[in-house]
Amino acid sequence: MKRRDFFKLSIHYKITIIFGIISAVTLIGIYLYLNKSLTEHTYKRIRTNLLKQTFLARSILSGALNHCPQPGEMDNIADRLGKDLDIRVTIVGMEGEVLGDSELDLTQIRSVENHLHRPEIQGALNGEFGESKRFSTTIRKDMLYIAAAFRNDNQRGIVRLSIPLLEIDLLSGYLKKLLLISLLIAFIFSVIITFIASVFISKPIKEMAQAAGDIADGDFSRKVSVSTHDEVGDLARAFNHMAEQISARIEEVTANRSRLEAVLLSMSEGVMVVDAKCGILLMNKPLKDFLLIRDDPAGKKPLEVIRNIDIQEIAENVLNLKKGVESREISLLFPEERILLVHATPVLREDRVEGAVLVFHDITELRRLEKVRQDFVANVSHELRTPVTIIKGYAETLLEGALDDKEHAREFLQVIHSDSDRLARLIDDLLDLSRIESGKLNLTFRPCAIKGIVERVVSELKKQADERSVTIKIDIPDNISNMLADEAGIGQVLLNLLDNAIKYNKEKGFVTVSAGENDEYIRLEIIDTGVGIPERDLKRIFERFYRVDKARSRELGGTGLGLSIVKHIIQEHSGEVAVESLMGQGSTFSFTIPKA
Ligand SMILES: Nc1ncnc2c1ncn2[C@@H]1O[C@H](COP(=O)(O)OP(=O)(O)OP(=O)(O)O)[C@@H](O)[C@H]1O
Ligand SMILES: [Mg+2]
Repeated sequence: MKRRDFFKLSIHYKITIIFGIISAVTLIGIYLYLNKSLTEHTYKRIRTNLLKQTFLARSILSGALNHCPQPGEMDNIADRLGKDLDIRVTIVGMEGEVLGDSELDLTQIRSVENHLHRPEIQGALNGEFGESKRFSTTIRKDMLYIAAAFRNDNQRGIVRLSIPLLEIDLLSGYLKKLLLISLLIAFIFSVIITFIASVFISKPIKEMAQAAGDIADGDFSRKVSVSTHDEVGDLARAFNHMAEQISARIEEVTANRSRLEAVLLSMSEGVMVVDAKCGILLMNKPLKDFLLIRDDPAGKKPLEVIRNIDIQEIAENVLNLKKGVESREISLLFPEERILLVHATPVLREDRVEGAVLVFHDITELRRLEKVRQDFVANVSHELRTPVTIIKGYAETLLEGALDDKEHAREFLQVIHSDSDRLARLIDDLLDLSRIESGKLNLTFRPCAIKGIVERVVSELKKQADERSVTIKIDIPDNISNMLADEAGIGQVLLNLLDNAIKYNKEKGFVTVSAGENDEYIRLEIIDTGVGIPERDLKRIFERFYRVDKARSRELGGTGLGLSIVKHIIQEHSGEVAVESLMGQGSTFSFTIPKA
C-alpha cells in the first residue's frame, strides 16, 4: 500500500492496521523468545532424563552380575535395559571394547570399532559421567550420548545411553507449532477486537465528518448525536454548538443582505460598488436596466461594462486618492443621450480603501427643464419686446409731430391699439399658462353637455369667421352623453382650437366640429380645410411659443401659446390631444374627455 493510500483509509482501518502491526511485532518477539527458551528447556529436560536413566542403568549394572559374564551376556543385558528404558543402551568394557548394544546383535557388535576415545567414555572414565553430542556413524543420526562407569564384583565397565537429537527437534517442533497456532489465534482475535473497538470509537467522528459535509452543503439542521462523555463527546457537543452559531450568523448575514438588496432595489438611483482593484462587486437593477446591461457585470471593470471613460476615472480617483467624495456630471451617449450626476465615495476600513460606492442620478430631465425655463424667459422677453418696440416707436413718431397729421395719426394710433391688445393677450395667456402649470387653475369637474359649449364658442367666433368667409359646421348627435369636465376650461380649449382653425384656414374655407363616444370617453374633432402643418412641426406645435410660420402667426396676432394651453387643460381632464394634418388640405385636431 502506498503512503498516500494509507492516509486515505478510514480511521478505524488505520487504528486496526497500526494495532495489528504492533501486536504482530509483539507476538513475533514473544514467539522468538519462547521458541529459544523452549528449545533450551526441552533439551535440558531430555538431557536430565537421559542422565537419570544412565545413573539408573549404572545402578542396575552395578548389582547385576554375581558371576563372570558369558560372551553375549552383556549384550543381552543391554538389550533388556534398552527395551525397559525405551532407549539405546551400549555397554563398553574398560578398554573401550563394545560388550553389548541394545540395537545391534552380537555379530554386528564385533565389527564395531573401539569406543575408548569417544568423549563421553573418556568423561565417564575420568569423572562421574561423560556426555557428547555428535553424529553417529553407526546408526547415521545426530545423537546425545551420556556414559557412566559401573563396577560390580565381577566386572567393571561403562554404560552409555544415547538418544537421537531428532527427538528433541520433534518434540520442540510440536511445541513450536502449538505456540505458533496460539499466537496466531491471539493475533486474529486482537485484530478483530481492535477493529470492532475502533469502529465504535470512530463512529461519532465519522458522523461528524458527514455532518460537516452536510453543513458545508447548507443543511444547518444537521446535528451529531452525542452519547459519550469523553473527548469525542466534547468534540461532538462543540461541533453542534458551532453549527448553531454558523447557522445564526448566516441567517443574520442573509437578512442583512436582503435588507441591503431591498434598499438598493427600491432606490431609483443607480448604485455601483467596486472593490479596491476597481472590479465591479455589485450593480443595482435600476442602473442595469438604465444601461441595458443583461449579463452579470461582477468582476469586470466599469469601462468594460459602461463605455464611458469618465466613470472609470471617477472610480479610480476615489480608490487612489482617498480624498472622500467626488462628484461629477457626465454625459452618456448610449443607450440614449443622458446626463448623469455621479457621486463616488470610498469605502474605508481601518484607514484602508476597500472599494468605492458610486451613485448615479439621472439629471437629464432637470437639465432639460432648466433649458426650457431659459428658453421661456428668452422667448417671453422677445415676444414682449416686439409690441413694446412698435408701441414705443409709433408713440414717439406721434409725439415728434405726426399727431398733427390727422390722417396718419389715426393709423398710428390704430397700430398702437392693436399692439397693446396683443400685449394684453400675451400677458393673459402667460398668466393662464402659469396658473395651469402651477396647478392653481381650480378646475371644477361637473357633468356638462358638449354640444351647448360648442355652440356658445362658435357663436362667439361668428364675427371672426364671417370676416374670413369661413363656414363652421357643428356635427354632434343630440343624444351624446355628458362629459365630466370644467365648462370654462373646455370652452377655452374649443376657443383656441376653433380660433386656429379659422385663422389658418383658406378664404371661404370650412371648419367642422364633430363628436363621438365610446365606453369611457367623448371624442371631439375640429376639422379645417386650411393650410395644414408640415410633418416635422407636428410634434412641436404644442410647445410654448412654437409657431410654424412666425411671421404669419404674428401678423394674425398669435402668440404661440394657444396649443400649449389646450394641451395642459386636456391633461388636467385626464384626456389626450392629437393632431393630424396634410399640407395644403387641412388639419384635424382631436381630444378626448372622460364621460360623466
Ligand atoms: N388649424 C391649424 N392649421 C394650420 N396651422 C395651425 C393650426 N393650428 C395651429 N397651427 C400652427 O401651430 C402654431 C401654434 O398654434 P398656437 O395656437 O399655439 O399659437 P398661435 O395660434 O400662433 O397663437 P395664439 O393661439 O396664442 O394666438 C401656429 O402658429 C400655427 O403655425
Ligand atoms: Mg392659436
